[in-house]
Amino acid sequence: MDPCPFVRLVVESLALKLPPVAKIAVPGAHPSSTPCSCSIHLQDFPAQTAPLPLSLGPTSSGANMIDVAAATSAASTSRVVISLDPAALQRMSKRPAILTVVVYAGRSGKYACALASGRRLLGQVRVAVDLEATAGRAAVVQSGWVSMGSGQGAARLHLVVRTEPDPRFVFQFGGEPECSPVVYQIQGAGGSGGSGIIRQPVFSCRFSAARRQSGRPIDPAGANVTCFFGSFAGEGETEMREQRKGWTVTIHDLSGSPVAAASVVTPFVPSPGSDRVSRSNPGAWLILRAVGPSTANWKPWGRLEAWRERGSHDAVGYRFELVPDAGTSNACTPATESSSSIGVRRGGVFRIDVGVGGCGFVMASTAEGQGKVSRPTVQVGVQHVSCMADVALFVALAVAVDLSMDACQPFSQKLRRELCQLQPRINRRWARAAAVLKELEEQCATPTEKLKEVADAMTKEMHAGLESEDGSTLKMLISFVDKLPTGDERGLFYALDLGGTNFRVLRVQLGGKEGRVVKQESEEVSIPQELMIGSSDELFDFIASALAQFVASEGVDFHLPEGKQRELGFTFSFPVKQTSIASGTLIKWTKRFNIKSTVGEDVVGELTRAMKRQGLDMQVTALVNDTVGALAGGIYDDNDVVAAIILGTGTNAAYVERADAIKKWQGPLPNSGKMVINMEWGNFRSSHLPTTDYDQALDAESLNPGEQIYEKLISGMYLGEIVRRVLLRLAVEAALFGEEVPPQLKVPFVLRTPVMSAMHHDTSADLKVVGAKLQEFLGISSSSLKARKVVVQVCDIVAKRGARLAAAGMVGILKKLGHSNGKTKKRMAFAMDGGLYEHYTVFRESLLAALKEVLGEEASASVSVTMANDGSGIGASLLAASHSRYLEN
Ligand code: BGC
Repeated sequence: MDPCPFVRLVVESLALKLPPVAKIAVPGAHPSSTPCSCSIHLQDFPAQTAPLPLSLGPTSSGANMIDVAAATSAASTSRVVISLDPAALQRMSKRPAILTVVVYAGRSGKYACALASGRRLLGQVRVAVDLEATAGRAAVVQSGWVSMGSGQGAARLHLVVRTEPDPRFVFQFGGEPECSPVVYQIQGAGGSGGSGIIRQPVFSCRFSAARRQSGRPIDPAGANVTCFFGSFAGEGETEMREQRKGWTVTIHDLSGSPVAAASVVTPFVPSPGSDRVSRSNPGAWLILRAVGPSTANWKPWGRLEAWRERGSHDAVGYRFELVPDAGTSNACTPATESSSSIGVRRGGVFRIDVGVGGCGFVMASTAEGQGKVSRPTVQVGVQHVSCMADVALFVALAVAVDLSMDACQPFSQKLRRELCQLQPRINRRWARAAAVLKELEEQCATPTEKLKEVADAMTKEMHAGLESEDGSTLKMLISFVDKLPTGDERGLFYALDLGGTNFRVLRVQLGGKEGRVVKQESEEVSIPQELMIGSSDELFDFIASALAQFVASEGVDFHLPEGKQRELGFTFSFPVKQTSIASGTLIKWTKRFNIKSTVGEDVVGELTRAMKRQGLDMQVTALVNDTVGALAGGIYDDNDVVAAIILGTGTNAAYVERADAIKKWQGPLPNSGKMVINMEWGNFRSSHLPTTDYDQALDAESLNPGEQIYEKLISGMYLGEIVRRVLLRLAVEAALFGEEVPPQLKVPFVLRTPVMSAMHHDTSADLKVVGAKLQEFLGISSSSLKARKVVVQVCDIVAKRGARLAAAGMVGILKKLGHSNGKTKKRMAFAMDGGLYEHYTVFRESLLAALKEVLGEEASASVSVTMANDGSGIGASLLAASHSRYLEN
């Protein structure tokens, strides 16, 4: 959780020294009862006024002497703080900003001057503030006396201008607080206004307006709380009055647990004889912190009172105080009471800024004027935040501030519908569910035009990836496979396929053109989760040991000629920079693997050493990605195969490229003139990809944030997890599965894609498969048919987006190969492999339909997609055979 770089500009130690003639008029005036004032403004920031104490020190002999006592005693009142957000800092980074202090004698606002009747301009001082030069450090820009005119008789102003870093966390509501929005954290130098902003969901809110509530929507468990509850209006209350009580907003973390709340504890009622909430009888909120895992335990943290101001300035007034002993977890607990007001027409900022020595209370939240859509932005000084639960309190406070603008509306005016509880609760929930679904559908939309843009972007990235090593999100890895199987391959070959949660060992007896695959045997072993994130040796020892056992079971149907060593095709389905056909270093792990010690190592070396440790005499003759294996297996069966796609746990593509088109290739061109390229398309990224907040959160919390973005939208590892995240939001915001959020639903990756697929394909009238899976995997014991339908809809949206985006990627490859632009009518086939495509029917059908849709009827007639003949198994053994060291050439 990174803060945004705010800076505070402090103007303090203000004091004024008047020429002797003027001073006579105020003999012995105490500095704190100053008759003068100044107005301070920095560029387009609103001007702030401060009282200006008079210095009683000698003016002539000690012209530069500061009357320290005077300046210090007035420091607390004569201190102006201007908070510069990242956008302002950016604006001011070009040239020094000018701070102007205009000094007045005489009456000015609340600071009256005894020198003369009326306000008189005494002079002004301008200070250049070079924010670039201070570069976010604490710096003193100006300190000392400055003359406001020329000659001995000029008045002099003492001031200290300094800057100090004031990093703040910034959050923004995705909608109005009464509409149960998501709250995002805004990160990056852009802060609340600039570019380069990252928006990441951190909380969700749930608004409720219980109708006839006892007045304690949330029961705080804290001991000395009762005194904070005001009295409640009795039975004879009008409907209108009831509308302003019982409001509660709970703030939930991403797992759906409530962490903070804002709850009306003193209803907003009109003062007698008026239709307004008055200052003498304000409405009040308690801001509460959730204590422990039980949702019933709350402890008060702060209390906010609000009322409608009287007089010419139409505003809502606020008073906030921290509840003593609120148990704030931050090291810097401010004792604060603060009040402010926000104009009703234009809205404004609720600001508490009593920063002293970095330990003050700094927070701000925006509220729009009456009748306007309000999506508060909340800033919190980093010193108050030691965990996300701390932030939630400020978010709850911002909710209370924003809703108070509504609560303080005159009672003759109608409240917005959401605030009135006029709709039955149940309807509101379905309306909320429908809104979440609609938003998901819109954000996941993949109309044909968008798919074409994605395809074009893919083609462009392919070109860039062939040009240079790091010029593209696509690695476009050179596989060193320049000859593909011909059908002549003969002999006994082994294959090892590592790429998902299981690995497979395989032996194949190849019989040339006539015999083809004479016999094959395989075994699958599941990899314990801890080995996927442990050490390299442990993983490879585990694999080599299973391989050794498998080799030991080799029967008489398999023949290894006398004196020959067994050879292995190693399918390693992760990004590898190959250094030859049988060696290559791991670039990074993907999917659920994360073993630091393997990255940068030759994976064949790792396997070979582990085989040695097991006493296994075998040589790796081909190291291939599963896509390359699938391509080899595909071509073995069908000569028109030009590319292979894997749609399984992960996703990727490989295709046959002209060697001379690979600009980054340094070595001699292969005789075949061709080279298989492993695209690593899972890492493809483009602004055209339709992504949602769920995707962003998934990515941010993944083992490889910022990487494999396309894979995270498409592949089997992630589809179920995206659905889980959407269902969790529906459970939190629309109580899809009842009052309580099912605890299992909060567990990442608990909903696997095969389960999603089973629910998606449920054709029973009462969706009983959906019901059963929800119970089995998420512990949801009963679900309504309506809720099950919502689940199916979520699966549908997520699966179809993935399938259609995969189709767009395939069109990108076809374009690169010169197809689909009308230039070639040559048949082109894709070899397809992976459980997602094979078993998820809706996914497969959507992909094929989208392929047709984007290519058009005519062009798609010459394109076909066939399941590869066990590419990563047979394909790898074929490549082991075609690169055997016993071959004559
Ligand atoms: C890997 C690829 C692999 C694909 C399919 C991705 O996560 O990066 O190398 O081909 O999964 O298994």
